[in-house]
Amino acid sequence: MVTIGYLPNYQNGLGETIIQGYYMHQGVGMWFMTFTLGLTYYYLPSSLNKPIYSYSLGVLAFWTQMLFYTMIGTHHFVFSPLPWWLQTVAIVFSMGMFIPVVAGTTNFLMTMKGSWNQISKSYVLPFFLVGVVFYFVGSSQGSFQAFRFTNYVWHFTDFNVAHSHMTMYGIISFLLWASIYAILPKITGREPKQLFVGVHFWMAFIGLFAYMISMMTGGTLKGLSWIEGNSFIESVILMKQYWVWRAIGGSLMFLSHLMFAYNFYVMAKMNRVKESIQKVSPQTVTA
Ligand code: HEM
Ligand code: HEM
Repeated sequence: MVTIGYLPNYQNGLGETIIQGYYMHQGVGMWFMTFTLGLTYYYLPSSLNKPIYSYSLGVLAFWTQMLFYTMIGTHHFVFSPLPWWLQTVAIVFSMGMFIPVVAGTTNFLMTMKGSWNQISKSYVLPFFLVGVVFYFVGSSQGSFQAFRFTNYVWHFTDFNVAHSHMTMYGIISFLLWASIYAILPKITGREPKQLFVGVHFWMAFIGLFAYMISMMTGGTLKGLSWIEGNSFIESVILMKQYWVWRAIGGSLMFLSHLMFAYNFYVMAKMNRVKESIQKVSPQTVTA
């Protein structure tokens, strides 16, 4: 994927656009999504101490993702001068993405079923839950963005920025945080303070919410303003208040990352006493 994406002989004219569309989408769909889903299939059941709900649903989700995700790169270029049929294939396969997304979401939620009491015990499950819900909502949003009539309104607007963060941040970052909070304490034996994990969770969640809602609302109004034929500057002026909300949300997200950095430091700091005991004990045994 990287080789094709950077080979210079593909990089001219419309061919470049097609290659870059597929390259970018393989990046989010076949790299970020697959490894994060892989982590979730492992760490969600293991942190709940039970098996995954359905192995068959997992197999279905995996193979349909391989089939549909690899074919949707051109949905970034709806209404562009690329072949119309290629755009249509991408739109149809974007709808096909509902199959792996529904299969995956069902599998994760059914695995969580019966363990809701864990929610109050640690923040691992809430992080997983937010990631899984955004997996469904963000991906469905993407499928709906691919249609010609919706793309007509939303393309080139801030709505896309909302989608990028609902997915890259809501799914990928939240599931990665869940996995890190699930595994690191088991490796190092060091738990962060629940209060501080809570501060990270709520600031990231509320911040993302403000970011997304403002960009989705402002983006839609911007698209409609362009369709009405208003001047570009009008759409910039109307976005002002939504960008203020994005700044508020973004600042909360940024602050939550500082909290995470501290929690990570606490979890990753090796227990010096434990370490020295481990170092000393083999020598003691041989002596
Ligand atoms: C069912 C799954 C998905 C579908 C059908 C889908 C669909 C789309 C569509 C149609 C666009 C282009 C909108 C436009 O330019 O007008 C888009 C953009 C984007 N999507 Fe998705 N999406 C899906 C899932 C995801 C996931 C899981 C991620 C990230 C992990 C993601 C990240 C992005 C990003 C970053 C962009 C913006 C690209 C740019 O800068 O132009 N999408 N998506
Ligand atoms: C403090 C947290 C974050 C803030 C405040 C933030 C803010 C922004 C801003 C202002 C843009 C430019 C939007 C525009 O073109 O108008 C952007 C773009 C983008 N960000 Fe973030 N971001 C954050 C975290 C992240 C993270 C963690 C990821 C990925 C995991 C991410 C992925 C992206 C992507 C893919 C784009 C391009 C979107 C597009 O072209 O549609 N962001 N971000």
